[in-house]
Amino acid sequence: MEQTHTFKRLGVDLGVRSYPIWIGEGVLQSLPSLLAQQGIGADRCLFIITDEHVAPLYLESLTNSLQAAGYPVSHAIVKPGEQAKSLTVFEGIVTQALEAGLDRKSVFVALGGGVVGDLCGYVAAAYMRGVDFVQVPTTLLAHDSSVGGKVAVNHPLGKNIIGAFHQPKLVAYDTSLLQTLPPREISAGYAEVVKHGLIWDESFVAWLEKNVEQLTRLDSHVLPEALYRAIGVKIAVVSQDERENGIRAILNLGHTFAHAIESLAGYSGGINHGEAVSIGMVAAARLAEKLQLANHVSERTSNLLKRFNLPTVLPNGLDADEMIKVMRRDKKGEGGKLVFVLPREVGRVEVVKDVPEAQVREVLEQMTGGEQ
Ligand SMILES: NC(=O)c1ccc[n+]([C@@H]2O[C@H](COP(=O)([O-])OP(=O)(O)OC[C@H]3O[C@@H](n4cnc5c(N)ncnc54)[C@H](O)[C@@H]3O)[C@@H](O)[C@H]2O)c1
Ligand SMILES: [Zn+2]
Repeated sequence: MEQTHTFKRLGVDLGVRSYPIWIGEGVLQSLPSLLAQQGIGADRCLFIITDEHVAPLYLESLTNSLQAAGYPVSHAIVKPGEQAKSLTVFEGIVTQALEAGLDRKSVFVALGGGVVGDLCGYVAAAYMRGVDFVQVPTTLLAHDSSVGGKVAVNHPLGKNIIGAFHQPKLVAYDTSLLQTLPPREISAGYAEVVKHGLIWDESFVAWLEKNVEQLTRLDSHVLPEALYRAIGVKIAVVSQDERENGIRAILNLGHTFAHAIESLAGYSGGINHGEAVSIGMVAAARLAEKLQLANHVSERTSNLLKRFNLPTVLPNGLDADEMIKVMRRDKKGEGGKLVFVLPREVGRVEVVKDVPEAQVREVLEQMTGGEQ
């Protein structure tokens, strides 16, 4: 089926590493022709990485359509959840890829959410010193993770500590796959959508505020626009600063807090990435207000996130001292300093280095134990 004209195309412009993002219902049926357009012909072996939730839903139909187009296809299925982003799982996949006979011309395909995308991208970045890969995102959150080329696995002492920059050859975002997402994962995805508004575009935030209910239902009248606009912000930032030497850091709004929450609350399902980012963005807004960098941002931020059914206070049992310790190890930090992306107003943020610990502690303490 040659229906690519009915899909939306966005382009990431990075010279020789440029690639298209195709968005729309049914994009996946056209994957063979989209691959061919990118110069990935049926002489290349494909290796799909997916997880145990996604495999029963979409692996067989994807495999069949690729095989029908002549591609040799094999796969690996990992356990669902953040724990799959580990060196142990990484090694297991490399073993399977070697056993399947994958060579340097082979192409990895990430069929899943951000976990599978980050893991698969890191395998592709490292396998035989780097092979091509393709992103087939299946979560709303993966509008963010599938674009921009940051790939990684976690270390027990920190999120995304072992990683690389490795751009995909193609992102094929079939919005019909989102219909099977559990409500909690839909909310998690909107945390990063809201983030893209908060860092860049007040009018996008206002549009989200107007359309929360339809968006939560994944209404096809508004969902594509939310995705184009959010991905558009990501592309605008990444194409200016592919390897995060400057402006790209603003994409980490809420993430210094979020990574500490994820590290301490465990990667085992207590709290997911989008939920941690939601709490982190409220914390960043409160910190900005405390430092007198912004006014009236935290209330609007937390109201919108709550309407997307996202948490805005810290989970019980998180200790401010422990969190500060983890945040000092954050990749943005230099020499253990506390570095945060903080809002100046809705739609505009800046990176603030060396934030005093006392104010950070106050914000954390005010956000503990269910206090709104
Ligand atoms: N690389 C980046 O730039 C970047 C950006 C943002 C987030 N991330 C990473 O992304 C990860 C979070 O991604 P996520 O929220 O997509 O998590 P995820 O990949 O764990 O997916 C969430 C859950 O939904 C299930 N699922 C996925 N697609 C489904 C579907 N279509 N139907 C039913 N269930 C489905 C998964 O099995 C999983 O249980 C984190 O590790 C985060 O660090 C990376
Ligand atoms: Zn994130």
